[in-house]
Amino acid sequence: MLGNFMYYNPTKLYFGEDSLKYLKEELKNYGKNVVLIYGGGSIKKIGLYDDVINILKECGKNIIEDGGVMSNPTSDKLREGAKIARDANADLLLAVGGGSVIDYAKGVSVSAYCDTDPWVKYYLNMENPSNKLIPVASILTMVGTGSEMNGGSVITDNASKLKIGHVFGAEVYPKFTILNPLYTYSVPQYQMVAGIFDIMSHIMEQYFSGFDDNTSDYLMEGLMRSLIHSSRIAVKNPKDYEARSNIMWISTWALNTLVGKGKSQDWEVHMIGQSMGGVTNATHGMTLSSVSIPYYKLIMDKGLKQFVKFAKNVWNVEKKSDKETALEGLKCLEEWMRELGVSLSCKELGANPDNFDDIVKGTFLLSDGYMTLTKEDVYKILEDSYKYE
Ligand code: NZQ
Ligand code: ZN
Repeated sequence: MLGNFMYYNPTKLYFGEDSLKYLKEELKNYGKNVVLIYGGGSIKKIGLYDDVINILKECGKNIIEDGGVMSNPTSDKLREGAKIARDANADLLLAVGGGSVIDYAKGVSVSAYCDTDPWVKYYLNMENPSNKLIPVASILTMVGTGSEMNGGSVITDNASKLKIGHVFGAEVYPKFTILNPLYTYSVPQYQMVAGIFDIMSHIMEQYFSGFDDNTSDYLMEGLMRSLIHSSRIAVKNPKDYEARSNIMWISTWALNTLVGKGKSQDWEVHMIGQSMGGVTNATHGMTLSSVSIPYYKLIMDKGLKQFVKFAKNVWNVEKKSDKETALEGLKCLEEWMRELGVSLSCKELGANPDNFDDIVKGTFLLSDGYMTLTKEDVYKILEDSYKYE
């Protein structure tokens, strides 16, 4: 392992079927004013909204609701939420939902007392917060982003069609997170498989960089094997508790910063996917799946040794030459993606030659992977994805 690092993760996790019972105990650590943040209504359908409201009432909290957080939360909604939290003199932001809801809550945390425009300050200019923050906590209902145990907050600005993520420091991570796999049973299949691919992508973004013999790579190979195994079960039977609980736990570990420690990381697939999301508002995991195969085929030769390792250790395949082995690994990845039913073409996501220029323009080009892309490379990846059957 070649890198130097500091590892600290302050999020306390409660995992399992009975994990909501710990909410009461945790709420004692915060003041009276709790802003309950949620999305478009799924938490009401599964009864979680009522359960949380009852616990908040039992604890004597003033409940201020901030619902209607959309998938791919917008800068307009963020400004609105910052005002709600500030006016409420919020002591805690309790996010109940998927990555969008939790990302948004982190955005509200840093924006409520920010005296300039938060979109410009945190997302365009990538500044760090210097004002008062409001603590965030989360109850996760949709698995994939890892937002429940990290500092990531991705916001979309509809005016500029830019979607940008800011990874905030430990002070913005959820203070505690409740993970109950049962809450994920009602997630629509499309979202479930998008989330599964998002997890795989988070791991691959960290795996496909560097050539050192790194413990993090061994951890990631284990996570990928477990994800592939459990996803095959979950796709056939979404109510398989063991599979859904494994996927939930893998998702958290895929992006709570541990497996990226001590190594360089790529993240170019996310840069293209995020930009596509800004332009099309497509589901995050699907934007990633639609560009992954063309991207990895493009960079494979530059990172051949690692692609061979991926083929052998994750997919158990080996051919005569390294190149054939690496290609076979990517073929296995693609077959698994087809089994899941994730998008292999950006065509079905609303990305097309008319908006490729915008997507290319909004894509950050990073340099820690095996290859630093040019704008032309990004365009070619989009073209290849568009043609994919
Ligand atoms: O809004 P509701 O009604 O809750 O419906 C949501 C939404 O329509 C639904 N859903 C969630 N839990 C459900 C449920 N439906 C039925 N039953 C349940 N239990 O699922 C839909 C998708 O939810 P969303 O939160 O948008 O999905 P996800 O968790 O994939 O989050 C996506 C956002 O996270 C960002 C993405 O860019 C995107 O904006 N990311 C955040 C990251 C981070 N914080 O580190 C990293 C990721 O790479 C990603 O960029
Ligand atoms: Zn992601």
